[in-house]
Amino acid sequence: MALVINQPQSPDDFALMAHTRAKLEAILDGTMQFPNNGVASILLYGLYGTGKTTMAKLLPGWIETAKTTEFLANAAVGKIVDSTDPQYSLHPCAQGQNGTVMISSIQNTCSYMSWNSSNLHYVILDEVDLLTTAACASLKAIMNRNDVVFILTTNHLEKIDPGVINRSVVLDLNAAPTPEWVAKIKGIYADSGISPPPDQAIAGIINAGNGSARTILTDLVITEAKKTIRKN
Ligand SMILES: Nc1ncnc2c1ncn2[C@@H]1O[C@H](COP(=O)(O)OP(=O)(O)O)[C@@H](O)[C@H]1O
Ligand SMILES: [Mg+2]
Repeated sequence: MALVINQPQSPDDFALMAHTRAKLEAILDGTMQFPNNGVASILLYGLYGTGKTTMAKLLPGWIETAKTTEFLANAAVGKIVDSTDPQYSLHPCAQGQNGTVMISSIQNTCSYMSWNSSNLHYVILDEVDLLTTAACASLKAIMNRNDVVFILTTNHLEKIDPGVINRSVVLDLNAAPTPEWVAKIKGIYADSGISPPPDQAIAGIINAGNGSARTILTDLVITEAKKTIRKN
C-alpha cells in the first residue's frame, strides 16, 4: 500500500506552533473581531514549503464559513472546512503581479459590492515582499478598509513594510514542534492503513526537513516507496 498524502483542508491538517494555532483560531471563532479597527489583513510568514500559499488559499473559505454558516455551533474551530466557496482573487507577486496597476485593479474590484454572503472581499497577495515600493504605498491605503480582507504571504518578514505588518495579524508558519509533526505523520500513516515507522525515525525525517512540509512529506513518500520496492 502506498502512503497517501491529502492536501490540507482544515486548520487541524497543519502542524503549527501553539501560538500560531491560537491566533488562527481566534480569528476564525470570533475571539478576535476580524476584520476590525484597521486590522483587516493576515500575514503568513515562514520558510519555503511551510504551507503559506496552501493556507492562504484556504483562509477565505474558512473565514466565510465561520461567519456565515452554523459550522462552529457543532464542531471545533480546528475542524472547519469550507462549505461556501467564496470569491477571492489571487495575485502571485513573483509572477509580475507586483505593481501599482495590480493594486488599482484590486481597488476597482473592491469598489463594487462583494458577492460573498459576509460582504467581504478577499484578496491574496502571494510573496508580498516582491511588491514595488509604489505598490506597497497604495496597498497601505486600501488596507484601512474593513470590508477587504488581505491575505499576505512572505518568506522574508524583514522585507515587509512596518505599516503593512502593523495592519496585519501575523501568523508564523515556521517549524512546529517535532511532537506535533510526529502526531500529524502518524495520522497520515493511519489514514493510509500502513503501520508507521518508530517515532524516532519519523522525528529524524522531520528534523532534517527544517519545518518545510514540502520536504518532510516528500521524504516520507520516498522512504515508503523504497520499502515497497525492497519487498517486491
Ligand atoms: N500541514 C501540511 N500538511 C500536508 N501538506 C502540507 C502541509 N503544509 C503544506 N503542505 C504541502 O506542502 C507543499 C508546499 O506548501 P506551500 O503552501 O506551497 O508552501 P509555501 O507557500 O510556504 O512555500 C504543498 O504541496 C502543500 O500541500
Ligand atoms: Mg508559497
